[in-house]
Amino acid sequence: MKRTLLALLLITTLFASFACERRNGGSGTNATDGSGEIIVGYYGDLTGRTASFGTSTKNGVEMAADEINKAGGVMGRPVRVIVEDDQGEPNKAATVVSKLVNQDKVHAVLGEVASSNSLAAAPKAQEARVPMISPSSTNPNVTQVGDYIFRVCFIDPFQGDVMAKFAAKNLNAKRAAILYDFNADYSRGLREFFTRSFKGLGGEIVAEQSYTQGDRDFSGQLTQIRAANPDVIYVPGYYGEVGVISNQSKQLGIKAPLLGGDGWDSPQLWELGGASLDGNYISNHYSVDDPSPAIQKFVADYKARYNILPDALAALGYDSMKVLADAITRAGGTDSVKLREAIAQTKNYAGVTGSISIDKDRNAVKPAVVLKLVWDAAAKAGKFNYDTTIYPEGMTPPATTSAGSPAPAGAASPAAATSPASGSGTNR
Ligand code: PHE
Repeated sequence: MKRTLLALLLITTLFASFACERRNGGSGTNATDGSGEIIVGYYGDLTGRTASFGTSTKNGVEMAADEINKAGGVMGRPVRVIVEDDQGEPNKAATVVSKLVNQDKVHAVLGEVASSNSLAAAPKAQEARVPMISPSSTNPNVTQVGDYIFRVCFIDPFQGDVMAKFAAKNLNAKRAAILYDFNADYSRGLREFFTRSFKGLGGEIVAEQSYTQGDRDFSGQLTQIRAANPDVIYVPGYYGEVGVISNQSKQLGIKAPLLGGDGWDSPQLWELGGASLDGNYISNHYSVDDPSPAIQKFVADYKARYNILPDALAALGYDSMKVLADAITRAGGTDSVKLREAIAQTKNYAGVTGSISIDKDRNAVKPAVVLKLVWDAAAKAGKFNYDTTIYPEGMTPPATTSAGSPAPAGAASPAAATSPASGSGTNR
């Protein structure tokens, strides 16, 4: 009996140390880490309230993986993407990431879009020491979960500042109202960062109201906001509610433009908000109008493959997969310690969404674009038109426009940007 117990103990310890070696990255010489398929876990909302986010991102990730595989894989190893639907729910996001890292033994995780989902799932990747790259979660807390958590997008203190500056300087706004999504970390963060910057620029917040995802009647909040007579209304929410809010604000006779963030970016926004969205502005990660050859090639390839223009989610999903592949090459394989280090070292990676350098907090420092929402009544379709690029402090704009800066004469001129040649009439 004693002997069997001892034997059992020995076996368990052996197994445990094997598992440990794999998890800690070990020497990088075992089969899972050194050769064979590179297994990437992707998780996102494919069927829930933010399904267009997860779907676009998945498209971008899969297109990038296919391109990599057609070119011979990463150091000769093919990439396989395992996709998980979290239905846009934080607890499900945590569950599927647990499954990806513990059961599927993925080498890296890509996801989520909505910050609350990334925040819930990131501890699972961190505990397992599997690098996670969020393509598009912008709340600063996401990468603070741990040293294995990265993102390839800018963060919300910057995004909130971008819209506050645009409101104060470009729109000359003095009085802003805010209508935000109470349960979303993303929205609560942007409310705070916009407020700080707007006040710093001499502006005043004259009304503040909130809602929760799934709400369909915003007339109470909008009536209060109307009474405060704001110049602009900041609505840092997701497209599903924002489309309805836009409609109801017009019905209540509100003339002030609505300002938003990347969370508005969905073809479905136009289905919900239609003509009421005309004249509003958002901050975002890139513009399909950017004439740089790399972006136009990406836009054309994506359109040929999916028959729709790529939104920012698709572009960021694509970039996250490419940045991961680049890091695996520099790491010389998928050893998790080396891979984590290589992702952290990413410098000036030429992505579709701009040049990607990972800073000490594991965030990308990049410019943002402001896009104007334009409704084409004849075509019954809307479009996000390029307006301006705003750079983070200390980053100088490139001298030429070909390096990823969307500052072309064509895209900046409203006449050219609304012509069918630049993609207007495509419902995205
Ligand atoms: N930044 C949003 C968040 O953190 C997600 C998002 C990114 C949505 C890009 C649309 C486009 O929740």
